[in-house]
Amino acid sequence: MKSSLVLAPVLADAWSSEASSGSWTEPAVSRRARASSDDEAPKRVLLVAGARPNFMKVAPIYWAVRETAADRLEIEIVHTGQHYDARMSDDFFRDLRLPPPIANLNVGSASHAVQTAKILSGFEEVLHERRPDVVVVVGDVNSTLACALVTAKIEIEKDGIVGRPLLAHVEAGLRSRDRAMPEEVNRIVADAVSDELFTTCRDADDNLRSEGVPAERIHFVGNPMIDSLRRCLSAAESGRWLETLGLRGRTYGLCTLHRPSNVDRPEVLRTILDALGEIAAERPILLPLHPRTRARIESFGLGRRLTHAKPGNGNAVAPRRGIVALEPLPYVGMLEVLRSADCVLTDSGGIPEEATALGVPCVTLRENTERPVTITAGTNVLAGVSRRGILDGLREAKEKTAREPRVPELWDGRAGERIVARLCALAEARR
Ligand code: UD1
Repeated sequence: MKSSLVLAPVLADAWSSEASSGSWTEPAVSRRARASSDDEAPKRVLLVAGARPNFMKVAPIYWAVRETAADRLEIEIVHTGQHYDARMSDDFFRDLRLPPPIANLNVGSASHAVQTAKILSGFEEVLHERRPDVVVVVGDVNSTLACALVTAKIEIEKDGIVGRPLLAHVEAGLRSRDRAMPEEVNRIVADAVSDELFTTCRDADDNLRSEGVPAERIHFVGNPMIDSLRRCLSAAESGRWLETLGLRGRTYGLCTLHRPSNVDRPEVLRTILDALGEIAAERPILLPLHPRTRARIESFGLGRRLTHAKPGNGNAVAPRRGIVALEPLPYVGMLEVLRSADCVLTDSGGIPEEATALGVPCVTLRENTERPVTITAGTNVLAGVSRRGILDGLREAKEKTAREPRVPELWDGRAGERIVARLCALAEARR
């Protein structure tokens, strides 16, 4: 008898030639007996996306299934609705040519507890309805944590057998060692309950091994963000944003800010905007505004530090200097603006990776990073949020980028293929 589901880890270990090692604790799962009914049917994979940084990570997996494994895997996207504005979500589906999700939980904004709780109960219903063989979660947002937790504990009945889908975490093993960051908690929990851990860099493998994860569950596959970047780069090259903003051929910088630790405290936000203002005395700095940041700038009365693109020739032309507030940019628009920027200053985790791949000097406005490879092998400098730190960081990022721009190992545009190859191997081993 063969199972209709890809195996959960208790059985998955049986196919592995290498014995389990380390202090990894098996998630408690029901063993699923083998059924003979649908041996050759494609295995169903649910791909979870919830917030803006997830979309460019799920896209390469979706594309790779459709292009290389459509006969073996059936892939469906579930959107939790954590991000819901057109500019934070729909635009990304369009730019990345993703199909509409098969389900949207529409959880929206709320406290961490309420948002997570809504995703837990909503995703449980989806699992019962779709009964997937594999669930893939990506990144470190609340949706990642919640959907991983549901998958790790669910019992689904399929073909008269009770068990749970295999759980894969993409972008596993990143650690900032700062548990005050909600994302760090999300990463630790998602990794702890996942069966298959796909990593973007070698240091993530080391982190997982040091936490006792057996080597055979860790798969260094490269960075799916870079798959999306490479695939969308030609669209970015022929984009209209630079024209629209009157920036083609001009020097400008870019900044993104959204972390609560930076934008929720008036003194921190003011210091960052003041340092940006100094940098923007020589060239415009574009600041596409995350909804949280926009709200905080307004409520703290810091709006006068910003300027705006001015109408001209039917466009909205960026001024010669100043911090230029913009709406959030769509994915391809962001790539277009980033690749030609003189520098980027950001508290995002993903933008330093993209800046590294594009060879753009990057200043991270944080005290720590879960992505040290962007510093050791990339263009990124960890600057903190003091005025001095930011100004020095910018100088250092420019110097290091001019010296020797490098791209980390396996950031080659093929991470999605490697992930899908592994998922197929798991499915094949079951037949
Ligand atoms: C979330 C992720 C963070 C990620 C970021 C990218 C968590 C814990 N945080 O943070 O890791 O880097 O997304 O943006 O999962 N809002 C809107 N429209 C939207 C979405 C949000 O107006 O479509 C506003 C709401 O006021 C909301 C606030 O933004 O309260 C924050 O949204 P939320 O999803 O809670 O967290 P982010 O700060 O976006």
